[in-house]
This record gives sequence, structure tokens and C-alpha cells, in this order.
Amino acid sequence: MSLVDKLKWRYATKKFDSTKKIAADKLQNILDAVQLAPSSLGLQHYRVLVIEDAGVREKLKAVAYGQSQITDASHLIVFAAETNINEEFGKKYIDNVAATRNAPREALAGFEGMVLGAINSRTPEQLLLWAQKQAYIGLGVLIAAASEQEVDNCPMEGFDPAGFDEVLGLKEKGLTATVIVTIGYRAEDDDLSKAAKVRRPADEFFIHI
Ligand SMILES: Cc1cc2nc3c(=O)[nH]c(=O)nc-3n(C[C@H](O)[C@H](O)[C@H](O)COP(=O)(O)O)c2cc1C
Repeated sequence: MSLVDKLKWRYATKKFDSTKKIAADKLQNILDAVQLAPSSLGLQHYRVLVIEDAGVREKLKAVAYGQSQITDASHLIVFAAETNINEEFGKKYIDNVAATRNAPREALAGFEGMVLGAINSRTPEQLLLWAQKQAYIGLGVLIAAASEQEVDNCPMEGFDPAGFDEVLGLKEKGLTATVIVTIGYRAEDDDLSKAAKVRRPADEFFIHI
């Protein structure tokens, strides 16, 4: 099956089979894909929480309109944007580039100037929005990677970010919950799995120039 076929197979799963868990190697593969997601300047402006703990998920469900996917899926993934994107964050990234590519720090001065300029020219609100946009790219890659492995998924914005931040202690970590996705296996009686996909007609969606 091609990726397009897998994306036709996937749907936003409403009812997960709570008895089925994702095998460790499959989960790792999905997380590896997320780590390879591109981000603006390569900064990876967010972190990814992988939550399996039943007690924590019960608390999170209470601040996610009681959506059952939170507790019934195999895993809950939380994309949390960094709230402290500053010079230190940028310099740490340049250190990583230098170490990974075995490049002298001085050779990266131009790139470092660009990175620090991109950070310093943004207001705190713009920095947060920038980080959150990158988190959504990670979400997209996760959805594709999970679907490719026939792991069901449901992206979710129906939750209270402040409630998630509180339960997960994200504020102290310099993070804020941005978007979440539950992954696992569909329940056989999830009626939506049989529903036809609703999408805008291609000629109303794509603009070829
Ligand atoms: C960012 C985002 C947030 C969403 N939030 C929720 C949610 O909170 N609960 C839910 O059941 N579905 C949620 N959905 C699923 C959408 O309703 C679903 O993707 C859309 O109707 C298209 O259907 P399909 O994914 O089955 O093709 C969300 C999807 C996205 C991309």
C-alpha cells in the first residue's frame, strides 16, 4: 500500500481498543520520524511527551472534555511548545550543529547571527506562535508515520492547554501544551471507521498556476 492508500485507510479514531498496545519497535519508529521532522532553522522549538501512565491520562481526560481516546488509546502524545526561546536556546543549538558536524564554532558565526537575529527580532507572542507552528509539523509527520505502520491516530485540539500544563508540570519545564494526538488501534465498533472521507473537491482545493 502506498502512503496515499494508508492515508485513505486512516481516520480520526473516536474509539480505540483499550486492550491493544503498540509494539515498542513500532512506537520507536514513529518517534524517530517525529524527531526527523523539519523545523524553521532546525531549532526544534518543541518537545514531545509520550504518555502511557493510566493515572496521568485519567487526569488529562478530565481537562479534554472527557474524550475517551485519551485513556483508551495505546499512547497519548503531547506536543509542547518551548516558551523560552531565547539567545541561550539558539546558542545551544549552534553548539549542537558544531558538535554534530564537527565544525569549528567560528565557521558557524554567520549562521549563528541568523539564528539569534530570528529569535531576537520576534516578540514573546511571535516566538510562541513560531514554536507552535513547528509543533504542528511534528504532528503531521507523526500522523503520516503512524498511518504508514497502520497505527490508528486521532489529532486533537479539544483540550484545555492550561489544564494540561498544570497536570504535566509543563510551565516549570518552560513548555506549553500545543496539540495532542492519541495513537493505538481502532475498536471494531467505531462506526466512523466505515464513513467515507469528506474532503473539498480537488479543483476547489488546489490552485495550479
Ligand atoms: C489539529 C486537529 C485537531 C483536532 N481535534 C480533534 C479533537 O479534539 N477530537 C476529535 O475527536 N477529533 C479531532 N480532530 C479530528 C478531525 O475532526 C478530523 O481529522 C477531520 O474531521 C477529518 O477527518 P479524518 O481525519 O477522519 O479524515 C482534530 C484534527 C486536527 C487536525
